[in-house]
Amino acid sequence: MQETHSMAGDNYITENSLQCHTLPKTNHKLTHTNGVHKVYKIMGPYEPEKNLIAPSSISQPPTELEFGWIPPYKTKTIEPITISTRTDRLKWITAAKYNLFNLSTDQIILDFLTDSGTGAMSARQTGHLITGDETYAGSSSFSNFTKAVQNFTSFPEIIPVHQGRAAERILFSTLGVNSSHVIPSNGHFDTTQANIQLLGGTTVDFKSTDATLFQGGMDISKLSTFLKKNSDHVPFVMVTVTNNTYGGQPVSMSNLKKVSSICAWYGKPVFIDACRIAENAYFIKRDEPGFENSTISDIIREMLHYSDGMTMSAKKDGLSHIGGWIAVKDPALAEKLKALLIVTEGFSTYGGLAGRDLDAISQGLREVVDEQYLAHRINSVAHFGQMLVDLGIPVVQPFGGHAVYIDANKFLQDCVSPQNFPAHSLAIQLYIEGGIRTCGLGSFVFPESTDELVRIAVPRRVYAKEHFEYAVKVVAKVFRERTLVKGMQILKESGLMRHFSAELVPVEENDCVNYS
Ligand SMILES: Cc1ncc(COP(=O)(O)O)c(C=O)c1O
Repeated sequence: MQETHSMAGDNYITENSLQCHTLPKTNHKLTHTNGVHKVYKIMGPYEPEKNLIAPSSISQPPTELEFGWIPPYKTKTIEPITISTRTDRLKWITAAKYNLFNLSTDQIILDFLTDSGTGAMSARQTGHLITGDETYAGSSSFSNFTKAVQNFTSFPEIIPVHQGRAAERILFSTLGVNSSHVIPSNGHFDTTQANIQLLGGTTVDFKSTDATLFQGGMDISKLSTFLKKNSDHVPFVMVTVTNNTYGGQPVSMSNLKKVSSICAWYGKPVFIDACRIAENAYFIKRDEPGFENSTISDIIREMLHYSDGMTMSAKKDGLSHIGGWIAVKDPALAEKLKALLIVTEGFSTYGGLAGRDLDAISQGLREVVDEQYLAHRINSVAHFGQMLVDLGIPVVQPFGGHAVYIDANKFLQDCVSPQNFPAHSLAIQLYIEGGIRTCGLGSFVFPESTDELVRIAVPRRVYAKEHFEYAVKVVAKVFRERTLVKGMQILKESGLMRHFSAELVPVEENDCVNYS
C-alpha cells in the first residue's frame, strides 16, 4: 500500500483511488511509527439525528406482551399443501437424482430450503402489485424506494438490483477483484464466494471463536494479522450480518466497530452483506449492553455507519419476493456501479425490477423494523430449536435469527463418513421420512468445509407452531433411526455452486460402524 504521511485535514492516498479520504480535524488519530507521524481515518461516532433522513413511519410497539409473543399478523390468503406418502417421496427423490433443488412444490410438505423470497407479503405490499409505477425511467416507485432505502440505511447512493448476488457481482467487478486478491469475511455466503471466484479472486473466513451471544462476528486478531501480512492483496473486507454460513449467528456492534477501525488503519473499505440486518439488530437490542433503549432503525443505521457500503438481498429482510440493492457512501463509486448496472441489470431507476417490486420492498422495510414482528420471528425460531434440543438433537446454539441448524457431524456420528456428505445425506433422509425440505450446508456446498450443518430455514410469516411441531417429529424419527441414513456420493457435477445442479446416489454400503 502506498501511503503519504499526512497531517490532520490533509488527504491520504492509497493505491486504490477509491480510497482517497479527506481527514477532518475531528476524525483522525496520530500515531508515531519509526519517527514518522502517520495519520489514518477512523469512523466518527454515530450520530442518530445527523443520520436520520426521514422519520420512520412505524410507531414503536410495546417491548413486551403480557401473555407472551403471538404472530403479530393474521392469515388473509392461504395456499394448500400437498400431502404425500413415504413411497411417493422415495420415488420423487430418486427421480430428482437426490438433489433437493430438483423437487417441485407439490412434492414437498414443509419447505425449509430457504428463507429467501419465500415469505408472505402483507396486504399493503400486495396492494403495490396494482399501484406500482411501471414507467421505464424515473418512476415514482423508484423515488419511493430510494427514500425508503436511504431512511433504512442512511446511505445516500442507492442502486437497485434484482437480488443479492447481482449486487455482489456488480460491486466486486467495479472494485476490480482479480486473481491477486483475497477477500476476508466473518463468513462468505456461497454467492459472495462464487462471485469473487468468478473474477479470479479468493476468499477467506475469519469467524469469531468467542463463546459469546454474538458468535457470528469477525475474529479480530486473525483479521488484523492477515491484513498486516497481506494488505496489498486485500481490496476490501466483507462482514455478513447475520452470519448465514455459520449458524445464522449475529454480529455485535462492538465487533463491527473493531472491524471498521482495523480496516481504516490499513485503508480498506468495509462492505456489509446485509440480507438479515434487521434480525441482527434485534439481537443487538436484546443482548448487547447499551442498546436496550435504541430503536431497531437506529441500530441498523449505526451498524451501517461502520461500513463504506452494503449489498442487500431484499428477499430476506426486505420482506419481498425479489429485489435488492447496493448502497454506498461514495458518489464516484456509485457512478461506476450504475454504469455496469445499466449494461447488465437495467436502467438505474429500476435495476431489473418492476415498479411494483420496488414499492413492495419500500413497504417491507417499514414492516421489518417493527419490534413485535422481529420479537415473534426470533422467538419462534428459538422455540423451534428448543423443541429439538429438548429431544437431545444436536443443534447449533445459541439459536440464530432465520434458521435452526442441526449439527450433522454429531447427529450422524459413526453413521455416515465425512466424505459422504453427512449434512446432505441427513437433509435427504428428512425429506424421505417427512416431506420436509431443508438444506445441507457442508462439504457438498463448500468443498473445503469440515462443518456439516443442516439448515432448517424458516420463511417469514408463513408457518405456524403446528408446522414446526410436525418438523420436530420428523427430525426425532430420523434421529432415532439414524443408523439407517445412507451417505451420498456425487455422480455428476459442474462448476461453481455445484449443489444447485449436481446429481447424486446413495452409497451402496451403509457405512455406519454401528450398523447391525
Ligand atoms: C448471507 C447471504 N448473502 C447473499 C445472499 C444472496 O442473495 P440472493 O439469493 O438474493 O442472490 C444470500 C442468499 O441466501 C445470503 O444468505
